[in-house]
Amino acid sequence: MKKSFVTIKDLAIEEIDYIFDLTSKMKHKEEDFGLPLAGKTLGLIFQKPSNRTRVSFEVGMTQLGGHSIYLGPETIKLGVREKTSDIAKTLSRYLSGIVARTFSHDDILELAESSTIPIINGLSDLLHPCQGLADLYTIKEKSQVLNGVKLAYIGDGNNVLHSLLYGCSKMGVDVSIATPKGYAPNKDILKQTINYASAQGGKIKLYDNPRLAVKDADVIYTDVWASMGQESEAKKRKKDFKGYQVNSKLLSLAKPDCIVMHCLPAHRGEEITDEVIDGANSVVFDQAENRLHVQKAILLMLLK
Ligand code: CP
Ligand code: NVA
Repeated sequence: MKKSFVTIKDLAIEEIDYIFDLTSKMKHKEEDFGLPLAGKTLGLIFQKPSNRTRVSFEVGMTQLGGHSIYLGPETIKLGVREKTSDIAKTLSRYLSGIVARTFSHDDILELAESSTIPIINGLSDLLHPCQGLADLYTIKEKSQVLNGVKLAYIGDGNNVLHSLLYGCSKMGVDVSIATPKGYAPNKDILKQTINYASAQGGKIKLYDNPRLAVKDADVIYTDVWASMGQESEAKKRKKDFKGYQVNSKLLSLAKPDCIVMHCLPAHRGEEITDEVIDGANSVVFDQAENRLHVQKAILLMLLK
């Protein structure tokens, strides 16, 4: 049976625990796993640029004994050269799985519906679930627990926040969100994840003042103010997000051992200062490394 990974919403708490157990085993005892994906090929359909997602999936496939093919924007021309569903049906005859990075989330859904092989969401305008899982794994690695941890998200209510909300709400991580007016997260996702959180005894709170959101935080998380595809809004957003920078002053209001996270790429000097991203509280490169380990567990579960 084929199973895709489109959103953390679809994962049961037990499945997330299982992925994290498998991730730890693969990260610390790689020699036990051999080359389980020998002979398998992963396709990477990317409409947007990527460093971490592309490289960690390609390296992950190599380490598991498989192979990958990068299909950039000029190769596939999703929905332009032929129908997205025809692409999915054709590639299902060659490949064992696909990672797709798109603008429209509907393109990910169409690929998943039309293919007979697993589709992994490598980021859409709505969600970034591989990032969300790797982030939670990193928090668990640093704090030992997830339940009861307080994460403060400062910045844009975007794809990264949406996936974090699904993950945190299911795993009992409290989330305090500070966004400027007009940049709040998706209303439906917020509603759903508030319900998931309350089922776990957790909380999701919205603020318009970053200083209030970071009070007692164990984790401060931020992302760029203008995501891929929003480049023309960058100037306006820079103005609108004034006061939402993660800097030393803001960090001093959180718990002293608070970790600082960023999915990267960072726009240093905008949403985060050099001092903080390069400082003692920052875990951004451990976080980036964990993309590889968590995604290897996902690949093993879906492609084996
Ligand atoms: N965090 C992340 O997905 O990075 P890339 O855009 O470089 O893949
Ligand atoms: N929100 C960012 C995340 C990049 C990994 C974007 O979509 O561009």
